[in-house]
Amino acid sequence: MEIIIQPNAAAAARLAARLLAGVIRKNPDAVLGLATGGTTLPLYGELAAMKLDWRKITTFNLDEYVGIPPQHPQSYHSFMRENLFRHINIAAKKTNIPDGLAGDIPAWCERYEKKIRAAGGIDVQLLGIGADGHIGFNEQTSSLASRTRIKTLTPQTRKDNARFFGSEDQVPHHVITMGIGTILDARHCVLLAFGKNKARAIAEAVEGPVTSMNPASVLQLHPKVTVFLDEAAAAKLKLKDYYRWVFDNKPDWQKI
Ligand code: PGA
Repeated sequence: MEIIIQPNAAAAARLAARLLAGVIRKNPDAVLGLATGGTTLPLYGELAAMKLDWRKITTFNLDEYVGIPPQHPQSYHSFMRENLFRHINIAAKKTNIPDGLAGDIPAWCERYEKKIRAAGGIDVQLLGIGADGHIGFNEQTSSLASRTRIKTLTPQTRKDNARFFGSEDQVPHHVITMGIGTILDARHCVLLAFGKNKARAIAEAVEGPVTSMNPASVLQLHPKVTVFLDEAAAAKLKLKDYYRWVFDNKPDWQKI
């Protein structure tokens, strides 16, 4: 796992955008796994400003709320449209987001998995992290082998996301999310975390035991993970001076 600590979220997002831009330039047909949430906003802002060619890029989003239509202002369809897709030249038919109104959810989830496989798998999967360590909407105690499926949000996650909905009772209880097994199939995972609210989850995910009580800790089993942090999110890492030294002394060929 590569841990990159930057002075603030803007600097970390700029570097993460540079990594993704490099992938898109090198492989114009790349398949990207996308995330939503406040953490992704500075990254999508950077990417939108970069004038990259997205025409042949395929995207698969991690998750969506169940029971709200794509036009709902808090749906992840709306989030992606507003914060990334309408600013870039991506083909709408190449963007994939779970359908929160799917009638037969298990069948829909199976088709999503098949579609990811048919696209050749995910080259780079973007991830945020919940204060409890969730990735996608794989809440604590999610199976570490799980595939795309319906999940029930914890009271904490619904509280955390109430800020987007206005009040907690408007936050849906259910979501469709890629599973942890689905995420682990991506060839490169890129996790972003900013702010002191994420410090404990990050310390446990990077330096704690692999446990479904912190689903992000499973990334320790993945061969290629890059974690972009601001100082506040890195605050509880025991080896942060080591991570900093490694980053500052990277050979040129490894630089982002
Ligand atoms: P946030 O969400 O970026 O809005 O903090 C991250 C997450 O819950 O995965």
